Amino acid sequence: MSPLTHPAHRSAMHAPHDQSRCPLMPTYGAPQVQFVRGEGVRLWDADGKGYLDLLAGLAVTGLGHSHPAVAEALYQQAQTLVHVSNLFGTEPGWQVAVTLDRLLGGGGQVFFANSGAEANECAIKLARKWGGRGKHVVVSALGSFHGRTLATLHATGQPQKHEAFQPLPEGFRHVAWNDLAALEAAIDPSVAAIFLEPVQGEGGVNPATVEYFEGVRQLCDERGLLFMVDEVQTGLGRTGEWFGHQHFGVKPDVVTMAKALGNGVPIGACWARADVANAFEPGDHATTYGGQPLAAAAARAVLAVMEAEDVPARATRAGARLTALLEADPHVAHVRGLGLLLAAQLADGIDARAVAAAALERGLVLNAVTSSALRLAPSLLITDDEIDEAVATLALAFTDTETAS
Ligand SMILES: Cc1ncc(COP(=O)(O)O)c(C=O)c1O
Repeated sequence: MSPLTHPAHRSAMHAPHDQSRCPLMPTYGAPQVQFVRGEGVRLWDADGKGYLDLLAGLAVTGLGHSHPAVAEALYQQAQTLVHVSNLFGTEPGWQVAVTLDRLLGGGGQVFFANSGAEANECAIKLARKWGGRGKHVVVSALGSFHGRTLATLHATGQPQKHEAFQPLPEGFRHVAWNDLAALEAAIDPSVAAIFLEPVQGEGGVNPATVEYFEGVRQLCDERGLLFMVDEVQTGLGRTGEWFGHQHFGVKPDVVTMAKALGNGVPIGACWARADVANAFEPGDHATTYGGQPLAAAAARAVLAVMEAEDVPARATRAGARLTALLEADPHVAHVRGLGLLLAAQLADGIDARAVAAAALERGLVLNAVTSSALRLAPSLLITDDEIDEAVATLALAFTDTETAS
């Protein structure tokens, strides 16, 4: 066992009194587990212990870990062409853009990025270029999450995350979630775009209502604003539709995505209606890696498997089973979310963080999205047996937590 994988060394490395020995910046809490391998919905740690992964890298590995089609695509592309500058054309990215545009209903164009925050930066810059000087404000919702770069941090409607990094870039405004009147009141001639998630993921798995999204679309049409939707967490089948906004029957002007697109290979994308995308001119926006052949080949394979497996339908079915089983447990007050982006709101007095820790101990990976709710966002290919096993393990974790308290 290497010194870095030995639990004693790990805890020593992350001991608060000895941060200087850890090679990583202290931006994340001390990890409880170091994973070394994954396959489908299973993970293994450095000591060979197996885990059932109900989190999928926070809604990233939609096809499960080490999907063979993605691994093969990476292998083939790595032997063919990994990278050239975006000054030149390459085939995989072009094909991914065509597929994404089709899944979004057509009539748009795509800019590739490397992450969700960068896809959102593209959307924010596009809104500013489209709006022109003086019409640059982006209105987003309280409780939202849009990323950690300075602009996307300010778009994120969680003021407590802003304070340490003030001053943040100007041009962001936040309104109450699912409240059309509050949104309307925030609109003035300086506003270029409304930017919302179909389901607030990091904010606690809170879906928008149909009336809200319909109302926002109408408001944007009446006031000449862009409706931009952040599908970084909700996109690509997770909610039971290809994109979360499709539950609400509206067509946004701009859609961003990342997470599931590469099944773990970093790639993000910003799609916009072609006439909006055409606000950009050569030189307005760029990235070295975005859309490079290696990442795009992974995304091309991901989309092919997703379409072949009809992942939206699978997410709907699996989500219904998971919801029903969780709601049958007396420790769960209710389950909210769409498809396979779910939060189990726990009964009064149960500490979600303690339950998540007990579940991890028992080999089940999930996340306390709030102090009283667990987030479940497994692979969209999860089987019924795996769902049943996960819920049975969670029941044991509830008992462990009760015994400990
Ligand atoms: C809705 C949403 N937008 C943006 C982001 C940021 O994505 P990234 O961490 O890839 O920059 C996230 C990440 O959780 C997200 O959930």
